[in-house]
Amino acid sequence: MMDTSWSQATKSQGISRLTNLAGRRAAGQVHSLDGTWRAILDPYDTGLINILGERNKQGFYRDFKPRHPADRVEYDFDTSLELQVPGDWNTQHPELLYYEGAVWYRRLVEVSASQVAAEDERQFLHFGAVNHTSRVFLDGEELATHVGGFGPFSVEVTGRLGVGTHSLVVQVDNRREPQRIPAMRSDWWNFGGIHRSVDLVTVPATALIDAWLTMAADGSLVGGVEVDGDTTNLHLTITVAGDTVVEEALTGAEHAVTVAHDEVAALERWSPNNPTLHPVTWTLTRSGDVVDQLGADVGLRTIATDGNKIVLNGEPIYLKGISLHAEAPSGGRRAAGAEDAETLLGWASDLNANFVRLGHYQHDEAMVAEADRRGLLVWGELPVYWGIEFDNPDTTQNALEQAAELVRRDRSRASVVLWSAANETLPGPERQAFIGSILTRFRELDPTRLTTAALLTLPSNDPAVHIDDPLGEHVDVIGVNQYMGWYYASRESMAETTWTSEFGKPIIFSELGAGAKYGHHGDENEIWTEEFQAAVYRAQIEMIARTEDCAGLSPWILKDFRTPLRVLPGIQDGYNRKGLVSEEGERKLAFDVLAGWYASLG
Ligand code: GCU
Repeated sequence: MMDTSWSQATKSQGISRLTNLAGRRAAGQVHSLDGTWRAILDPYDTGLINILGERNKQGFYRDFKPRHPADRVEYDFDTSLELQVPGDWNTQHPELLYYEGAVWYRRLVEVSASQVAAEDERQFLHFGAVNHTSRVFLDGEELATHVGGFGPFSVEVTGRLGVGTHSLVVQVDNRREPQRIPAMRSDWWNFGGIHRSVDLVTVPATALIDAWLTMAADGSLVGGVEVDGDTTNLHLTITVAGDTVVEEALTGAEHAVTVAHDEVAALERWSPNNPTLHPVTWTLTRSGDVVDQLGADVGLRTIATDGNKIVLNGEPIYLKGISLHAEAPSGGRRAAGAEDAETLLGWASDLNANFVRLGHYQHDEAMVAEADRRGLLVWGELPVYWGIEFDNPDTTQNALEQAAELVRRDRSRASVVLWSAANETLPGPERQAFIGSILTRFRELDPTRLTTAALLTLPSNDPAVHIDDPLGEHVDVIGVNQYMGWYYASRESMAETTWTSEFGKPIIFSELGAGAKYGHHGDENEIWTEEFQAAVYRAQIEMIARTEDCAGLSPWILKDFRTPLRVLPGIQDGYNRKGLVSEEGERKLAFDVLAGWYASLG
């Protein structure tokens, strides 16, 4: 039964999963539905609900056309607003910049005889991400609801796309809600829309809906497949760099694999200095015939901790990082696709970074693919941000679904080494239980990567800062957000400040920094000047360089980004100015301060 509650979708339903989209694309099984869609703004939800509060039988999801003059149809997609997909709606039309509500997207899908799926094929719509909730309709029929703004999801449409023109309608709603993740307030723009790609994917009737492989800390490989369809008498073969490493009968729809360390010891390891990727294929056969096959390029590396060190391929590594929002290199819009990823991570490389914190939510897959290629370690993150309803079971359920979307999509990515469960949440029993369930989910889906969370540091006059947030007990790496020299404490006080933790684990300073308006110059004690920001970075670097438990940092933030919280005219104008580059990519003085230090570390 579909969720027929008022317009606010509260639970995902009717959702399928289909990972390894790149592999499907390489196999020619993906048809892009990106491009110009039609759209109708619907702040009063009239497209879904009639004045009696029931499902509107004439609703926008029906994509009605007046069939004769007497027909009273009070909408028409064909002559409505145009929106580009992928893309947020806020930056495509000036009147939409602050819009929070429902927008109905419609795309006509033309299917020719040659494009109709065969009897032994299945078809899915794959959405890279839609913020925040979406209801998917095809030819007027509701198929699925998805809640969560940053993870991929699929909707099965097998048997529904015969020859002809089909109406794909998606209701997207980006209203903030207290029970959601994120909740009511975030220091980033609430970009609404189908902000990542939409594809029509055609797969065999029995398909590998998930196939992953990664290296565990002991140098063995772990992974698995999930098969949807007839799983009788199936055989699984996995090759890495052309060598068969797995050859076994499938034990069921979900099948785990391990490959002993010595079978892959000779293969070149992935690292920032040598980001080698090996071709991997997963092949399902039945009586010798190929049933389904998927490929991916996978890096092999180990990641672990040893006391207060992070260890990559057996050697301690210092994470010379930078944080990023998923905002494009210019235009203050949602980032999407390979070009944005290449530019943004190119700037990280120019900083001499080997690490990026993709905050505060799952970024476009192009970002982790580019990090794999470029040799940047990645901190992946869930938007468990300020003001979460930790005691709401629906919120917990959605957090676990978003955690699964994050891990399942990226757990073959060597660059991804950290899963972060939260950012700046306040200690308490409900928070502990909520985040604990996310950490457990992370480890169920991927026992190899490190877990973390960015902890809030509250101002203190004590120069000896001791981290004792109880969450530190449950994560592998302690993320510490601190803004000495900006929100509290003077630059001078940093010279006396020491950082220790209760936990004997690696610390990453997951946020630090200061604001500056690009091109605004003056004395280093004048706030909002580039000189002020650079002076804060110099003082932070001096303090961090002598912090024994620190295994790395990801200063906040690579690029100025849009936020409704920052409204100082002439300086912020709707942007958070802690970027090392402006919203148009212009580099501030602090960029070279950080880049110079990272270069000096080798
Ligand atoms: C917080 C928060 C960020 C925010 C930053 C700031 O630490 O995690 O999302 O943008 O501080 O105040 O600029």
